[in-house]
Amino acid sequence: MATSATDYLDALWRDYTAITPQAARIHALFAARGETIVNDHVALRTYGRPGIELATMARPFLARGWEPRDDYRFDDKHLRARYFQHPDPALPKVFISELCVDELSAEAAATIDALVAQLPAGFGDRDDLPYAGRPWSLAHATYAELLRESEYAAWVSAFGFRVNHFTVDVGRLRTLGGLDAVNALVAGAGFELNRAGGLIKGTPAQRLEQSSTCADAVDVAFTDGVFRVPSCYYEFAKRHPLPSGELFQGFVPTSADKLFESTDVRR
Ligand code: NI
Repeated sequence: MATSATDYLDALWRDYTAITPQAARIHALFAARGETIVNDHVALRTYGRPGIELATMARPFLARGWEPRDDYRFDDKHLRARYFQHPDPALPKVFISELCVDELSAEAAATIDALVAQLPAGFGDRDDLPYAGRPWSLAHATYAELLRESEYAAWVSAFGFRVNHFTVDVGRLRTLGGLDAVNALVAGAGFELNRAGGLIKGTPAQRLEQSSTCADAVDVAFTDGVFRVPSCYYEFAKRHPLPSGELFQGFVPTSADKLFESTDVRR
């Protein structure tokens, strides 16, 4: 018997906060104002390789009632993505992206395939795949090599399978009217915001405005030592109504493209 959708999200949240120290602190910032956070979406990353690709990552969510919605393509970052929505509007959407490994250099693809070759048998069948963590070992030099070609490839190599970010549904906050107020609160508490593409990505005309923090850096164990690398971040989303009056539930590719950069190594 599968755990409920809510219990499953709780497990994802616990795993995410364990490597994202800022998440609990930002949660506390909102709670101190009497706010209860409703999540807009959770985002996951993977390599587009058999047994761990987007479709496999989606299985535990499909089993708990989430339904596939739109597909997106990010050519420059060699990514494709799909989001899933639950019939219960209190539950967040799930946004899963995968790296199109064959679009990278032959060297980077071979490096990724060597990581994937370390997967234990049946790994992709795990019900906890989306928070199974990193199933392979690698040297920091391997991480650095992937980093030169794709920040996303490097992130997955270091962290494996886990939520990349949770997202506050700003429209359901009672004391903060919009993203400007949220950004001011979060930046005022000392958190760095992602400025790629401007502080706020998207416009009311696009029906979705988003902002995010820059990822925390945490210690990660590699075969040749422990190194600090960017982990996960927190995102904020304000949705606007369609002409029908219903809130837009999809995503804006040009904005998502910049939000992926929230985990970039700051040089
Ligand atoms: Ni997001």
